[in-house]
Amino acid sequence: MAESVKKDVAIDCNSLASHQTGNISGLKNLMASRTDDRKDSNRSDDAIPDIGDHYFVRRSDNSWHPAEIIQVRVDDSGCKHEFYVHYEGFNRRLDEWVQIDRFNLSTKIDDQQTKVKDLTINLTDLADRTDRKITRNQKRKHDEINHVQKSYAEMDPTTAALEKEHEAITKVKYIDKIQIGRYEIDAWYFSPYPEEYGKQPKLFICEFCLKYMRLEKTYRYHQSQCTWRHPPGKEIYRKGTVSVFEVDGKDVKIYCQNLCLLAKLFLDHKTLYFDVEPFLFYILVEVDRRGCHLVGYFSKEKESPDGNNVACILTLPPFQRKGYGKFLIAFSYELSKLEGAVGSPEKPLSDLGKLSYRSYWSWVLLEILRDFRGTLSIRELSRMTSIGQNDIISTLQSLNMVKYWKGQHVICVTPKLVEEHLKSAQYKRPPLTVDTFCLRWDPPKKIPKLNKK
Ligand code: ACO
Ligand code: ZN
Repeated sequence: MAESVKKDVAIDCNSLASHQTGNISGLKNLMASRTDDRKDSNRSDDAIPDIGDHYFVRRSDNSWHPAEIIQVRVDDSGCKHEFYVHYEGFNRRLDEWVQIDRFNLSTKIDDQQTKVKDLTINLTDLADRTDRKITRNQKRKHDEINHVQKSYAEMDPTTAALEKEHEAITKVKYIDKIQIGRYEIDAWYFSPYPEEYGKQPKLFICEFCLKYMRLEKTYRYHQSQCTWRHPPGKEIYRKGTVSVFEVDGKDVKIYCQNLCLLAKLFLDHKTLYFDVEPFLFYILVEVDRRGCHLVGYFSKEKESPDGNNVACILTLPPFQRKGYGKFLIAFSYELSKLEGAVGSPEKPLSDLGKLSYRSYWSWVLLEILRDFRGTLSIRELSRMTSIGQNDIISTLQSLNMVKYWKGQHVICVTPKLVEEHLKSAQYKRPPLTVDTFCLRWDPPKKIPKLNKK
């Protein structure tokens, strides 16, 4: 039986076997003619939602939040219509298709936000009051944990322009969900699957070879024929039921492209889908009698001019919050240690990426500082952990353990401060750690470039 994995918003897609983007005037006629649709709420004739309108919309946790309508669609039968909404100030992962019964039609918010009803004012008031009380650091943490997006005004002009363009292209995620192995998973973001697949509400993906299909029938047939049982590369780690395979983008291009397309459904900002040859992919699987089941992965540039040891990292939603993300992060640093290099994840980090890295870095640094007596420089910490110096500094700053003195960052800790952090919520021993005895990996040999004379 398929297990269904929902993010914190549930989408009713039962009637979406086939659908199309609706034209708004057709939709208005449709809505006007459907009196049964209109009985159950407090809507009035002048309040028919349109693209660009702002209303309070009920989220799946029953809270009301201001939202903008991004897109509208009706199904082929013409009897269901849905609105794609973005909840203001929230991560776009939470954007979703909702039906009219989730709108409070008496709370239309006009452009200048002047007619906003009591509810918004209360919310704004609350936000203002809490913001004033907290420090910038606490606000950053709050925003990270609550996945608050930066507004355009908070970005530099180039980033804001790029961000606007990115949003315009990827505004709507047409693929609502995927079926992969035992799991049915809600998609979070747009992914550039080819046109004929990209507008399917549901895609079927083979969990072994990652081939994607539109029809369940084709998928079932494929399952009976597909002979793949593990990722197409070398198994470089195995402990218990956890395995990691190294796959070269040059050797198995289609598999790696399919992996990137799948990953994009859960990543907002990464743009690598087709040019996979310069990358290695480290695929984390859980092994049982039926085969190796995909849990997550990270990709890594073979040659990174910026010193990145991770390009993209992903744990599939059914496996998230169990420690696999930090396992993958730890794994990437173990590879860097074997290379004798320092590495850092490619920027920008997503909100969840930041939380996971911050948690991993804090744990690693506190573990060292707990047992260390004497003096230690940031450079030495970096050499011991393969964590980049900037990442060490930002982590120590968040732990209040670094001072800027005579133009340098200096570690400033007392055993008492370390003890306090070890007892705090920020210190979390990862549930899964990398056992280096189970890692069989040699760094790829770098071919020295010949000096052309
Ligand atoms: N809300 C709040 N905290 C969360 C959430 C969440 N939804 N998900 C994870 N966390 C926290 C965990 O509590 C944990 O912190 P803790 O140890 O202090 O409790 C930390 O993040 C890591 O948890 P893990 O279980 O180790 O990580 P997980 O398997 O969930 O994977 C990952 C983390 C890879 C970031 C996952 O959330 C994911 O795939 N997200 C979508 C893709 C993405 O954003 N990738 C990172 C992009 S940046 C880059 O690629 C370089
Ligand atoms: Zn297959």
